[in-house]
Amino acid sequence: APFSDSPVGTGRLIVVSNRIPKSNEVPAGGLVNAMHEALTGAGGLWIGAADPSEQALDGLTRIGSGDYDRATFAITEAEHIGYYLGYSNSVLWPLFHHRPDLLDISESEFEAYAAVNRRVARAIASTVKPDDLIWIQDYHFLMVAQELRALGIANRIGLFLHIPFPNPTDVMALPQVAALSSWLAAHDIVGLQTMRDVTSANEVLRHDPKAQVLRGGKWLRENRTFSVLSFPIGIDAEKFAKTAEAARKPDLQLADDAPLLIGVDRLDYSKGLVQRFEAFDDYLSRRAKGDPRPTFLQIAPPSREDVAAYQEIREELERTAGSINGAHADLDWTPLRYVRRHVDRDLIAGLYRRADAALVTPLADGMNIVAKEFVAAQDAEDPGVLILSHFAGAAEQMDAALLINPFDKRSFSDAIDRAIHMPLEERRERHQTLREGVFEKDIRWWTDSFLARLSQVRP
Ligand code: G6P
Repeated sequence: APFSDSPVGTGRLIVVSNRIPKSNEVPAGGLVNAMHEALTGAGGLWIGAADPSEQALDGLTRIGSGDYDRATFAITEAEHIGYYLGYSNSVLWPLFHHRPDLLDISESEFEAYAAVNRRVARAIASTVKPDDLIWIQDYHFLMVAQELRALGIANRIGLFLHIPFPNPTDVMALPQVAALSSWLAAHDIVGLQTMRDVTSANEVLRHDPKAQVLRGGKWLRENRTFSVLSFPIGIDAEKFAKTAEAARKPDLQLADDAPLLIGVDRLDYSKGLVQRFEAFDDYLSRRAKGDPRPTFLQIAPPSREDVAAYQEIREELERTAGSINGAHADLDWTPLRYVRRHVDRDLIAGLYRRADAALVTPLADGMNIVAKEFVAAQDAEDPGVLILSHFAGAAEQMDAALLINPFDKRSFSDAIDRAIHMPLEERRERHQTLREGVFEKDIRWWTDSFLARLSQVRP
């Protein structure tokens, strides 16, 4: 059956992301959740990777339809290793998160990445109609647009990068650095999370002798013009606020006056979890003896466990957590609760609402929507405090949070102290400002502003 039409101008919206929900349940997790919200509004076709199989044939397999259609492209086990674990998550991810020291470069893995990108381009080419908008998500598919152009596809193509853009020095560590600007130039719009990312991308492009900057910040490269713009991603704030309000009070068996701090992250070295634990440790060592005993609940489900750097950060975190509780715990008090298992979104919403402060303190992060979800979940009468790293993309919009430098343990632990003791008046003021931003620039705003820009491009 043909994929259904949807109202994006006259054509359909075709979205590609590596991860795609395989069942009809409302999906969990950052990018996937955002795409679900976006497509529920706009309709269209969502393409993502199938689970690895023995053989990978060309084409798409339809896996669901409803407000929008879903289909998968095939990848082999070997491609999963080379394209996903390898080039995507051991080269692009660390490099784009300013960790060139963690790069694990292999020529064959890049070849698998290029092969998968070519297959995705062929799959799109087999279903695309002239007026469709193609919207590529994230670092797994940096070469798809170039492959589509090579196949003669003239449609409007947008890229949104959910992670930070590397600076011109770090990017030199990429063996394919010379090709990067031609990959970008195959799109019409390159969307990034923050102005800081746009600045980095422009600097990288400036090093390409073939790229020429035009008036209004557009770029010209080999007869194609394209724009690099920032579109900070949002959340469905209204829906999340309702979920938090309706959530059952989580039973944490804490004393009524015990401050609860919360952190929720994929277990990733970019999230600054060790630094966060150490700042909490510093706070515990220095806290006033009469203060109620705080609990810090960190939820950190593991991801990409077959990549060595992820195994290492997991071990380091476990050691740190153990030594902190060893130093500070009492018969009736465990200051740090470290939970690795998956926790349902509804329960997390309730935990955010109950928490007195959230620690969103990555060393590098595209946006970090936990910051926005925490704000949306608060009770405006008695709101909790957001402690936010300068290095989260969210900091560009959310400067009413307590902004911290996660590398500076002492000022970080001072911020924890300040959050725990912040007077109601100040909490309300900060929350009010944050809440307005989160509700105004929500997921609808993000989708609409990106797609409006993309539709304006002359194909
Ligand atoms: C980040 C990336 C997404 C990715 C998600 C989960 O948010 O930007 O593209 O899907 O992490 O990572 P995973 O490797 O499990 O899909």
